[in-house]
Amino acid sequence: MEQIPTQNGPIGLFDSGYGGLTILEKIKKQMPQYDYLYLGDNARAPYGSRSFDVVYEFTRQSVRKLFDMGCPLVILACNTASAKALRSIQMKDLPMWDPESRVLGIIRPTVEQIGELTKTRHVGILGTEGTIQSKSYPIEISKLFPDITVTGKACPLFVPLVENSEYDSDGADYFVQKYLSELLEKDNQIDTIILGCTHYPLLLPKIRKFVPEKMKIVSQGDIVAKSLADYLKRHTEMESKLTKRGHCEFFTTESVEKFKKSASVFLHENSIDAMRISLE
Ligand code: DGL
Repeated sequence: MEQIPTQNGPIGLFDSGYGGLTILEKIKKQMPQYDYLYLGDNARAPYGSRSFDVVYEFTRQSVRKLFDMGCPLVILACNTASAKALRSIQMKDLPMWDPESRVLGIIRPTVEQIGELTKTRHVGILGTEGTIQSKSYPIEISKLFPDITVTGKACPLFVPLVENSEYDSDGADYFVQKYLSELLEKDNQIDTIILGCTHYPLLLPKIRKFVPEKMKIVSQGDIVAKSLADYLKRHTEMESKLTKRGHCEFFTTESVEKFKKSASVFLHENSIDAMRISLE
């Protein structure tokens, strides 16, 4: 594939759908000066139960699109894509496309914070089937904190509930309670639960209802925002390539009207404009 000419441009954020907006919201709050370009592959979401090869291929197409649209830096604001595609894109694709462009994931920055959060040293991870089956969280946690016991629980119905705006319905209670009780049955010493999917912060009020009051529930938005700010301080060669007009643009592979409506809820903003694009 053709090389990407290195250029100045916005920070790209990618997710299978709306979940990455929970990350974008916090990044924009912490660093409003930069320009952002958000791409949601809503037409092919959810990614959570898809195979390694398919998640890699879809993510690769999306990252390439963001580079072609001028982003020198792309954040995979999706745990499933970070678990299944990040390494391959970094190792195989980037060196061919443009060795100066960068793709960052969100699992590593999340894992770096875990050591300070848990007292019992027992941590639970909620994620998509893909993220849990990949074992990315236990593998990364064991490298930094070998004393922590990690228990994962796949929650295959959470993303469809969120993508279909059913996250605050009574029906959602059943699955939130079921997945949480199954997690805590596996390990009742867990004192910290990581929401290892960027869609799950929308379910936070319900998740709180079904865990003991003292349980720490960790969303990734603020963690990723802080980690990105640190990265840009350390990597001035990348920081200087980022355009700074405070603009944010949205692209979706599905209906623009649907995206605008849901994205406003995720971002707590009234008027969001979006454009439809095709990735194939
Ligand atoms: N928001 C993505 C994640 O963080 C999820 C999901 C999906 O499409 O299943 O894993």
